[in-house]
Amino acid sequence: MKSKFLRPSYIELDKSALKNNLEFLKSRGRKGLKYSAVIKGNAYGHGISAYIPMAETFGVDHFSVFSADEAHGALQFKTRESTDIMIMGMIRNDELEWAVENGVEFYVFEKDRLEEAVSAAGRIGKKAKIHLQIETGMNRTGFEEEEWGEVFELVNRRTDRLELKGICTHYAGAESVANYYRIHNQDQKFREALNLAGRIFPKMPLIHASSSAAFLTYPEMHYDMVRIGIAQYGFWPSRETYMHILKQNRSFAEDPLARVMNWKSEIMSTKWVGEGEFIGYGNVFLTSRKIRIATVPIGYTHGFGRNLTNTGYVLINGERARVVGIVNMNMLTVEVTDMPAAKKGDEVVMIGKQNGQEITVASFGEMSNNLNYEVLTRLPAGIPRSVQ
Ligand SMILES: Cc1ncc(COP(=O)(O)O)c(C=O)c1O
Repeated sequence: MKSKFLRPSYIELDKSALKNNLEFLKSRGRKGLKYSAVIKGNAYGHGISAYIPMAETFGVDHFSVFSADEAHGALQFKTRESTDIMIMGMIRNDELEWAVENGVEFYVFEKDRLEEAVSAAGRIGKKAKIHLQIETGMNRTGFEEEEWGEVFELVNRRTDRLELKGICTHYAGAESVANYYRIHNQDQKFREALNLAGRIFPKMPLIHASSSAAFLTYPEMHYDMVRIGIAQYGFWPSRETYMHILKQNRSFAEDPLARVMNWKSEIMSTKWVGEGEFIGYGNVFLTSRKIRIATVPIGYTHGFGRNLTNTGYVLINGERARVVGIVNMNMLTVEVTDMPAAKKGDEVVMIGKQNGQEITVASFGEMSNNLNYEVLTRLPAGIPRSVQ
């Protein structure tokens, strides 16, 4: 039964921001380049149930997830028959039949999975849709150079059971200039694998390698498809990537990406605290004057890190209110002494916009020494998401 009680916070997804981001991203790639929306980690905390149908309305027809359970979730929420789902990581051998049955594409980076995919396809009577992942120097998953020939030959022999959808790799840290040589070495190696594949396969499948940072930084690595995660949500993979784009496009009056997420709550209560008093647990915040505080029913259990204690900010009535005292499990306190209008029930923005002011996850992330990725994906699945 649906609960009649509201959660202490909610997330609103800004449709126009996503439209803006997709248009910007498309302007950076050649005509015909295919885009896969990376929606692992519950669509980077945005919520797959709301995000997938919203993205589909803007023509996104390919989604990348990490694991079989995420693919299962994505299948529930896709609204178009033609939308494809691709697993880039974890799928157990005994889940392969399910993937084949449901037309879910998956990475293959070990002979064991490849052989099991052939068997699963035989049992189901449908072809397994596979992407061969090449090890080029990330040193995580992918076929090693000495395996390439044998694997390509095997795939080529089993076209009765396998549909080779793609050949791919993943660059290690394209968001940092420090990795420039490593990325180029990886790309060089990838090209060697592609050369060999070109000699074995009569027709090449989709070639893909770039995530947001590589896509934005290295156009020569776009190939046929790019896997875009963080940038579609309106966040830069790093400040370096942002600077790289700004330098090329001096005409940008403002950030070309717009944040899709707005995470909001409300003031639960306000009160005055006298001079020389500690606020909340322990003694981390001592008042040096009489101050007015507002409690917000959001804490680290909801994704607002304890490391934002005494350093984080929220927006109330379009103004920044600083966190005073320790962020609790379910609650935090902010100072509203100079905001006399602030009252119980007023909207509080933890991430997003309010009256022209914005708290970005980048600032939230820097304040908390976390990456955007981590702050976003830690937002609990239980927070209700809606599209605005
Ligand atoms: C294999 C792979 N491709 C693409 C992405 C998307 O990366 P980003 O969010 O930086 O665009 C990821 C995310 O880490 C990934 O693991």
